[in-house]
Amino acid sequence: TESFKYTGNKGKGGELHQPASDTHPIMTIAQGCPVSDDQNSLKAGASGPTLMEDHVLREKLFHFDHERIPERVVHARGYGAHGYFETYEALNELTCADIFQRKGEKTPVFARFSTVAGNKGSPDLARDVRGFAVKFYTQEGNWDLVGNNIPVFFIQDAMKFPDLVHSAKAEPDRGFPQAQTAHDNFWDFISLTPESMHMVMWAMSDRAIPRSLRFMEGFGVHTFKFISAKGNEKFVKFHWKPKGGMQSVVWNEAVKLNGADPDFHRRDMWQAIGEGDYPEWELGVQVFDQKFADDFEFDVFDATKLIPEEQVPVKIVGRMVLDRVVDNFFAETEQVAFCTQNIVPGLDFTPDPLLQGRNFSYLDTQIKRLGGPNFTHIPVNAPKCPMRHFQQDGHMAMQNPKGRVNYEPNSWEGGEHNPRACPAHGYQSSSEQVSGDKLRYRSETFADHYSQARQFYISQTDIEQGHIQNALVFELSKVEHLAIRERMVSHLLNIDETLAKKVADGLGLENMPQAAEAAMKTRDDLPV
Ligand code: HEM
Repeated sequence: TESFKYTGNKGKGGELHQPASDTHPIMTIAQGCPVSDDQNSLKAGASGPTLMEDHVLREKLFHFDHERIPERVVHARGYGAHGYFETYEALNELTCADIFQRKGEKTPVFARFSTVAGNKGSPDLARDVRGFAVKFYTQEGNWDLVGNNIPVFFIQDAMKFPDLVHSAKAEPDRGFPQAQTAHDNFWDFISLTPESMHMVMWAMSDRAIPRSLRFMEGFGVHTFKFISAKGNEKFVKFHWKPKGGMQSVVWNEAVKLNGADPDFHRRDMWQAIGEGDYPEWELGVQVFDQKFADDFEFDVFDATKLIPEEQVPVKIVGRMVLDRVVDNFFAETEQVAFCTQNIVPGLDFTPDPLLQGRNFSYLDTQIKRLGGPNFTHIPVNAPKCPMRHFQQDGHMAMQNPKGRVNYEPNSWEGGEHNPRACPAHGYQSSSEQVSGDKLRYRSETFADHYSQARQFYISQTDIEQGHIQNALVFELSKVEHLAIRERMVSHLLNIDETLAKKVADGLGLENMPQAAEAAMKTRDDLPV
């Protein structure tokens, strides 16, 4: 107000450089108290020591001291944007998921793309898998499709994830490398984990150095379930297809870009959206039934395998358009919490042992990363549909129950703040027969580690195969321990002999190693 108008510091500190004015309102501290001078601390005399009494300085420093939160344990470097998902056609026969019920309906989304291994400040063009995570704010709750730009994964069981990630990140004694897979620990782990061979082929391909986040595919990886209103179940795999097609750089370009502009991908996304050239992907589903799963030559719950599109075509069901950059990178992109356990009626998990572990891991890590159990109160994580429950308290609680009721059953009057569960409309898990001995067990149907790696390699053009060969030679030539190089070549022999030979030559191996002992080639080779 006029009476409050502040005209600058007339005190001993001299004139303020940039005082509040008609265009720049008065600054306050976080408690709302107006600030008279944001440049000079309170001192005893012109050159005297700073006084403890200076609550403005103390508050400013205190808040600054606490600006950092832990970076994500993986996928630390990422870039996000807002947009919408548009449903092309109602899928009521397949699923009762609200988002797929009405043709043309638009659902708000937030998407975050990321590298996996590098720290928050690592370069964008590292050879790495890219995360492709989408939060759909549906009318029946948030559905998070937390995928990657590669349709399979390195490991089959969540038990191995901490080891995979430890091996991929900086080596603990030296603190490097920050963002490259080219080091002994990573290739040691990989070469001792044959199930990773399929994903390794993809990771050494051009897919792992995308030209832009806008030009890459996305995959939900796991098999999920669709459940219809009648209770019919189908299996489903999710795919994102970029409207602009796929584009990659070549390794030399990646290396130069990392040096010249480590922010290349985030700048590209920011600029494209700013210029109205909105990135767009179509969502596709591969839907199949139990009979297909039984007959398929691999286990559909094995995340190191994909289902070829020739066998189950991808049906396009909608599109995602990203049309708004964030207002604040930290508040939205850093604090967004994707979680595989966030699903909605009409969708369900499967027994994929990787997915089962992920369902624990994300929530667990986010409780630490985002400072407690109430991170769903942060706007980017909050559902945009009504939320009614009796959860309360904890750090930063902002949505506590209103009124007397915070438990059920209760005898109190109904109303907005006294919700009840609803068997007809609430989330129903699919029914599943489960029996068996309690064992630490890997299904024999998970045993073939090379067939799909080979299929991927031979599906590539000559030029693309050359890129895979070169990538392997480059990466493995950084490995100092020669036995690891040889072990890798022994796996490559089970994938493609020419590939193995090219890599062995490129590495200057004197003798070709024996092929690694191959597990069963296909499910048909299982002992009857
Ligand atoms: C992020 C765990 C496998 C995609 C994360 C985070 C953890 C994690 C702890 C950090 C989350 C956060 O701080 O918010 C695991 C475990 C896995 C696994 C335990 C296996 C057992 C996968 C797979 C995919 C994937 C198979 C892809 C299908 C992602 C993505 C992010 C992420 C995209 C980043 C999400 C974001 O942008 O904030 N993962 N992960 N992860 N994970 Fe996984």
